[in-house]
Amino acid sequence: MIYSIVKFGDPVLERPAEPVTVFDDDLRKLIDDMFESMYEARGVGLAAPQIGISKRLAVIDITFKEDPDAKLVLANPEILHAEGKHTQPEGCLSIPEFREPVKRAQKVTIRAQDAHGKWYEKTGEDLLARAFLHETDHLNGKLYISHISALKRDLMKRKIRKLIKAGEW
Ligand code: NI
Repeated sequence: MIYSIVKFGDPVLERPAEPVTVFDDDLRKLIDDMFESMYEARGVGLAAPQIGISKRLAVIDITFKEDPDAKLVLANPEILHAEGKHTQPEGCLSIPEFREPVKRAQKVTIRAQDAHGKWYEKTGEDLLARAFLHETDHLNGKLYISHISALKRDLMKRKIRKLIKAGEW
Protein backbone atom coordinates (compact mmCIF):
# COMPACT_ATOMS: atom_id res chain seq x y z
CA MET A 1 0.00 0.00 0.00
CA ILE A 2 1.25 3.45 -0.91
CA TYR A 3 0.70 6.06 1.76
CA SER A 4 0.46 9.73 0.90
CA ILE A 5 3.11 11.89 2.51
CA VAL A 6 2.08 14.29 5.26
CA LYS A 7 3.30 17.82 4.60
CA PHE A 8 4.73 20.53 6.80
CA GLY A 9 1.96 22.14 8.82
CA ASP A 10 0.54 18.84 10.08
CA PRO A 11 1.21 18.63 13.85
CA VAL A 12 2.16 14.92 13.61
CA LEU A 13 5.48 16.06 12.09
CA GLU A 14 6.37 18.16 15.12
CA ARG A 15 5.42 15.71 17.86
CA PRO A 16 7.87 13.18 19.35
CA ALA A 17 6.86 9.70 18.17
CA GLU A 18 6.07 6.69 20.39
CA PRO A 19 8.52 3.78 20.71
CA VAL A 20 7.92 0.65 18.64
CA THR A 21 7.17 -2.16 21.11
CA VAL A 22 5.63 -4.93 18.99
CA PHE A 23 7.63 -6.49 16.14
CA ASP A 24 4.98 -8.56 14.38
CA ASP A 25 3.77 -9.17 10.83
CA ASP A 26 1.70 -5.97 10.96
CA LEU A 27 4.85 -3.96 11.66
CA ARG A 28 6.71 -5.72 8.84
CA LYS A 29 3.81 -4.96 6.46
CA LEU A 30 4.01 -1.31 7.55
CA ILE A 31 7.78 -1.34 6.88
CA ASP A 32 7.23 -2.79 3.37
CA ASP A 33 4.59 -0.13 2.73
CA MET A 34 6.97 2.58 3.96
CA PHE A 35 9.68 1.47 1.51
CA GLU A 36 7.09 1.39 -1.28
CA SER A 37 5.76 4.84 -0.35
CA MET A 38 9.30 6.24 -0.11
CA TYR A 39 10.26 4.94 -3.57
CA GLU A 40 6.98 6.23 -5.03
CA ALA A 41 7.80 9.68 -3.63
CA ARG A 42 11.40 9.43 -5.00
CA GLY A 43 12.92 9.67 -1.55
CA VAL A 44 15.91 7.99 0.12
CA GLY A 45 14.47 8.12 3.65
CA LEU A 46 11.02 8.13 5.23
CA ALA A 47 9.92 8.33 8.86
CA ALA A 48 6.57 6.95 10.08
CA PRO A 49 5.25 10.39 11.21
CA GLN A 50 5.52 11.42 7.55
CA ILE A 51 2.70 8.99 6.75
CA GLY A 52 0.76 10.13 9.81
CA ILE A 53 1.91 7.29 12.10
CA SER A 54 3.55 8.59 15.27
CA LYS A 55 5.96 5.67 15.79
CA ARG A 56 9.73 5.68 16.20
CA LEU A 57 10.25 3.94 12.88
CA ALA A 58 12.07 5.00 9.71
CA VAL A 59 13.34 3.43 6.50
CA ILE A 60 16.39 4.47 4.49
CA ASP A 61 17.83 3.44 1.13
CA ILE A 62 20.43 5.93 -0.04
CA THR A 63 21.05 3.79 -3.19
CA PHE A 64 17.38 4.09 -4.27
CA LYS A 65 16.80 0.37 -5.04
CA GLU A 66 20.27 -0.21 -6.49
CA ASP A 67 21.65 -2.24 -3.60
CA PRO A 68 19.17 -4.44 -1.67
CA ASP A 69 21.64 -4.52 1.24
CA ALA A 70 21.35 -0.74 1.55
CA LYS A 71 17.72 -1.02 2.69
CA LEU A 72 17.75 -0.09 6.35
CA VAL A 73 15.00 -0.28 8.94
CA LEU A 74 15.46 1.97 11.95
CA ALA A 75 13.13 1.19 14.83
CA ASN A 76 13.75 3.15 18.04
CA PRO A 77 17.04 4.56 16.69
CA GLU A 78 19.57 6.32 18.91
CA ILE A 79 22.59 8.34 17.85
CA LEU A 80 25.62 6.77 19.55
CA HIS A 81 28.35 8.88 18.05
CA ALA A 82 28.67 11.79 15.64
CA GLU A 83 31.82 13.43 14.35
CA GLY A 84 33.05 15.86 11.74
CA LYS A 85 31.10 18.49 9.88
CA HIS A 86 29.65 18.46 6.41
CA THR A 87 27.38 20.99 4.71
CA GLN A 88 25.12 19.83 1.89
CA PRO A 89 21.74 20.88 0.50
CA GLU A 90 19.03 18.93 2.28
CA GLY A 91 15.38 18.37 1.46
CA CYS A 92 12.45 16.49 2.93
CA LEU A 93 9.48 14.73 1.34
CA SER A 94 7.25 16.62 3.78
CA ILE A 95 8.59 19.97 2.55
CA PRO A 96 8.53 19.41 -1.22
CA GLU A 97 10.28 21.75 -3.66
CA PHE A 98 12.49 23.30 -0.97
CA ARG A 99 16.17 22.58 -0.32
CA GLU A 100 18.62 24.35 1.95
CA PRO A 101 22.24 23.73 2.92
CA VAL A 102 22.41 22.09 6.34
CA LYS A 103 25.53 21.50 8.42
CA ARG A 104 25.52 17.98 9.85
CA ALA A 105 28.03 15.54 11.31
CA GLN A 106 29.98 13.76 8.56
CA LYS A 107 30.17 10.38 10.30
CA VAL A 108 27.42 9.01 12.51
CA THR A 109 26.94 5.74 14.38
CA ILE A 110 23.44 4.66 15.31
CA ARG A 111 21.94 1.87 17.33
CA ALA A 112 18.50 0.71 16.21
CA GLN A 113 16.22 -2.31 15.99
CA ASP A 114 15.47 -4.05 12.70
CA ALA A 115 12.11 -5.36 11.46
CA HIS A 116 12.39 -8.30 13.86
CA GLY A 117 13.36 -6.25 16.90
CA LYS A 118 17.03 -7.21 16.76
CA TRP A 119 19.36 -4.42 17.88
CA TYR A 120 22.20 -3.48 15.53
CA GLU A 121 24.79 -0.74 15.20
CA LYS A 122 25.76 0.94 11.98
CA THR A 123 28.12 3.73 11.02
CA GLY A 124 27.38 5.92 8.02
CA GLU A 125 29.29 8.72 6.36
CA ASP A 126 28.16 11.68 4.24
CA LEU A 127 24.68 11.00 2.80
CA LEU A 128 24.03 8.00 5.06
CA ALA A 129 25.14 9.96 8.14
CA ARG A 130 22.84 12.77 7.06
CA ALA A 131 19.94 10.34 6.58
CA PHE A 132 20.49 8.87 10.07
CA LEU A 133 20.32 12.35 11.60
CA HIS A 134 17.45 13.60 9.43
CA GLU A 135 15.24 10.55 10.11
CA THR A 136 16.05 10.42 13.83
CA ASP A 137 15.14 14.11 14.00
CA HIS A 138 11.75 13.28 12.46
CA LEU A 139 11.08 10.80 15.27
CA ASN A 140 11.80 13.57 17.77
CA GLY A 141 9.35 15.89 16.03
CA LYS A 142 12.13 17.91 14.49
CA LEU A 143 12.47 18.99 10.86
CA TYR A 144 15.65 19.97 9.00
CA ILE A 145 14.51 23.57 8.85
CA SER A 146 15.25 23.79 12.58
CA HIS A 147 18.94 23.60 11.56
CA ILE A 148 18.85 26.60 9.20
CA SER A 149 18.89 30.29 10.11
CA ALA A 150 15.71 31.80 11.56
CA LEU A 151 15.68 34.25 8.67
CA LYS A 152 15.69 31.52 6.02
CA ARG A 153 13.20 29.47 8.01
CA ASP A 154 10.73 32.35 8.31
CA LEU A 155 11.04 33.06 4.60
CA MET A 156 10.33 29.42 3.83
CA LYS A 157 7.34 29.34 6.18
CA ARG A 158 5.93 32.46 4.54
CA LYS A 159 6.20 30.84 1.10
CA ILE A 160 4.52 27.70 2.43
CA ARG A 161 1.69 29.69 4.01
CA LYS A 162 1.08 31.29 0.60
CA LEU A 163 1.01 27.87 -1.04
CA ILE A 164 -1.46 26.61 1.60
CA LYS A 165 -3.70 29.62 0.97
CA ALA A 166 -3.56 29.00 -2.76
CA GLY A 167 -4.48 25.35 -2.17
CA GLU A 168 -1.17 24.25 -3.66
CA TRP A 169 0.32 22.52 -0.60
NI1 NI B 1 12.34 14.36 6.02
